[in-house]
Amino acid sequence: MRYGHFDDQTREYVIETPETPLPWINYLGSESYFGLISNTAGGYSFYKDARLRRLTRYRYNNAPLDTGGRYIYLRDNDPVLASARTWSPTWMPTRTPLDFYECRHGMGYTTIRSRMAGIESQTRYFVPLGENLEIWELTLTNQRDQPADLSVFSAIEFNLWDAMDDATNFQRNYSIGQVEVVEDVIYHKTEYRERRDHFAYFACSEKLTGFDTQRDAFLGSYRGWDSPKVVEAGHSEDSIAHGWQPIGSHHVKVQLKVGEQKKIIFILGYHENPKDAKFDPPESQTINKRTVLPVISKYLNCDEVEKSFQALRVLWEGLLEKFQVSTPDVHTNRMVNIWNAYQTMITFNMSRSASYFESGIGRGMGFRDSTQDLLGFLHLIPERARERILDVAATQLETGGAYHQYQPLTKRGNNDVGSGFNDDPLWLVLAVTAYVRETGDWGILDEQVVYDNQPGSEKPLYDHLQRSLQYTLDRLGPHELPLIGRADWNDCLNLNCFSDTPGQSFQTTTNKEGKVAESVFIAGLFVLAAKEMAELSEKLEAKDKKQDRTYLLPPSEFYMGKAAKMESIIWQHGWDGDWFRRAYDDFSHVLGSKENDEGRIFIEPQGICVMADLGIEDGRAEKALNSVDEHLATPHGIVLQQPAFSKYYLHLGEISSYPPGYKENASIFCHTNPWIMIAETKLGHGDKAHDYYSRINPSVREKISDLHRCEPYVYVQTIAGRDAATHGEAKNSWLSGTAAWNYVAITQWILGIRPTYDGLRVAPVIPSAWKNFEVARMYRGVRYVVQVERKGLGNEVQLEVNGKPVKGNIIPMPAENTKEVRVRVTIT
Ligand code: GLC
Ligand code: GLC
Repeated sequence: MRYGHFDDQTREYVIETPETPLPWINYLGSESYFGLISNTAGGYSFYKDARLRRLTRYRYNNAPLDTGGRYIYLRDNDPVLASARTWSPTWMPTRTPLDFYECRHGMGYTTIRSRMAGIESQTRYFVPLGENLEIWELTLTNQRDQPADLSVFSAIEFNLWDAMDDATNFQRNYSIGQVEVVEDVIYHKTEYRERRDHFAYFACSEKLTGFDTQRDAFLGSYRGWDSPKVVEAGHSEDSIAHGWQPIGSHHVKVQLKVGEQKKIIFILGYHENPKDAKFDPPESQTINKRTVLPVISKYLNCDEVEKSFQALRVLWEGLLEKFQVSTPDVHTNRMVNIWNAYQTMITFNMSRSASYFESGIGRGMGFRDSTQDLLGFLHLIPERARERILDVAATQLETGGAYHQYQPLTKRGNNDVGSGFNDDPLWLVLAVTAYVRETGDWGILDEQVVYDNQPGSEKPLYDHLQRSLQYTLDRLGPHELPLIGRADWNDCLNLNCFSDTPGQSFQTTTNKEGKVAESVFIAGLFVLAAKEMAELSEKLEAKDKKQDRTYLLPPSEFYMGKAAKMESIIWQHGWDGDWFRRAYDDFSHVLGSKENDEGRIFIEPQGICVMADLGIEDGRAEKALNSVDEHLATPHGIVLQQPAFSKYYLHLGEISSYPPGYKENASIFCHTNPWIMIAETKLGHGDKAHDYYSRINPSVREKISDLHRCEPYVYVQTIAGRDAATHGEAKNSWLSGTAAWNYVAITQWILGIRPTYDGLRVAPVIPSAWKNFEVARMYRGVRYVVQVERKGLGNEVQLEVNGKPVKGNIIPMPAENTKEVRVRVTIT
């Protein structure tokens, strides 16, 4: 069953009923100001950091689930109609049945349209580029055959900035709320009197009939957002919040003639003042508004709003144009051209911080998460990718290890979680090498980057990469496999934790010294990263021998040697006969082997080891992938391991805490599926790779939305596995490495358009039924139009570049100032 449809022309998903199985959300903003918005206008906003600078309040796990947001109430002022006709044009929170409802989630904006008793309303929500504010543009049309006399009430609830404190510290917070209401603008200034120099404002383009800023004045003490007292009464209380719960609500009266249309603009924004010019007059406690008023008046103007909306459309058109494909499969096209690319931007911005499953409080930017997210995002805005690489690298430690997370606002490593996730640093190598291949920006390797944010510890970025690899080599266990530390990619494989105390964090509790438990996954990742370093070194050697590098370049054989050594260890201790093993626990017992009753085979090492080219020549890679197919594949995707853990194992940690079939305990943990897709392409299996691709493709799954339940336009982290009661049900949509990795798998390995240091490679491994496809891709400022035609069932490629045959599968770098290169590719 579907709840809407894709509109590929406008690049929107159109939701046709407010009652989706779960809130289906979108994101507003892509620079510093962000908002989450659901299909019924739920959600919240923040500046840069969902924990430390939250503008509006949102209570997670509420009932109904999605309560609190950017609400508008409409009311007929006619006393006869009034009692019957009070409604929310976005359905929530009043849930009054609407005559028509439609929500369009687009690239950085959401539009919700509805009709009720002849009044049509449309609310368009977005964040103008370069601004720290969001716009709600409400358009009302009177389709009645008589004039309409309406009241419009807006409503938001302010968060007292630190979302964690806001949700817990009531003895203080009930006393600190402060607002100003001046010339119809509501200013939220809690803590502005002391150490904050920022405030929020909520403005409206119309003359106000009234306003409210104290929550219980607006709602009434025993009412919720679904039935505010003020809306029922039809007039505001003009309340000024002193402590308690500051809100923002405007009341506007609107008279509409028959057929008349009117736009009303609301803006909610964040503003910082210079520390020494916070107040006006200076010795007062009144916010200095001179710096913000020009911004407010600019965006209360309809033409300006339209202009800034068009600018947002143009931005996204430009971004998405960087990679456009046309294949015989509509789901592939839609995801690659629109939604998957869009999701990589969202994961780039949010890491794992703020979604409807991530509270914005618990986690900031993850080291391994953000470095992987970059892989799918790099080509969209390389400059921002560069900045992110340098920020992440600055949270690396001198040992080569890394803070597992950092806060986006402060860019400082998070001490509560600390370090010791032994895979973390290796992902940095993959991100940086991918960045250089994409951009040709070799200079980034010379960038001086601190360790642990400590001034004076600056070293070239290249040194950071070297230490990343050395970190693994310095931590080898009894089998000479890498020690796992707190966990590797699988955050829940906690082999040193041994926690039997409720409430302890599986990730940070460590009861073992950590000198025994080893990870075959890290070993495979190490081989991949070491080969990347070897190739990088080789290219650097060849590039310019005389160039004064700021770092010492080891010969490329050095890293090849390290990779080869690790490979031989994997074959000795990490190969189980039919698949790669997963780990050795603290007793040096194997995991992910035929010797185990539960957890006999895991997906991660099969993916990563084959991606690192292990066993491709001698058939062992093929064996491993056949085992994946046989033991792990389901119609809904590939599960993480089998058999699922039926009980809690002290020595395995959080993985066995989940009921079978959920999360890391044998769900379809989607992040890992593209690794298998890539591995299948390495063996030339286009049908298999694309089949796996389609199983978790949200657009393909749209038709089972009642089972899948999450948004059909974005990837999720997890789909319940075959051991679960709800096999096929998705959770944790939006913020997952699944976005970046699927983008990489489909664009670089299945479609096979892959940046190398020397040019764009074209090596498609596509389904046998595809006769042709076409890609237009921007690469280092040049547009490549690649037309691929299948003439045989193999994966052999012949290139013709601008009409001339070219040997191999790399398109040579074109002459300077070339704008476009046309490539014909024949597959035989
Ligand atoms: C979550 C984490 C990610 C981890 C994965 C598997 O998605 O954000 O870092 O790799 O779970 O445990
Ligand atoms: C939980 C989740 C895992 C996530 C981790 C991060 O353990 O199962 O996916 O990576 O939390 O803290």
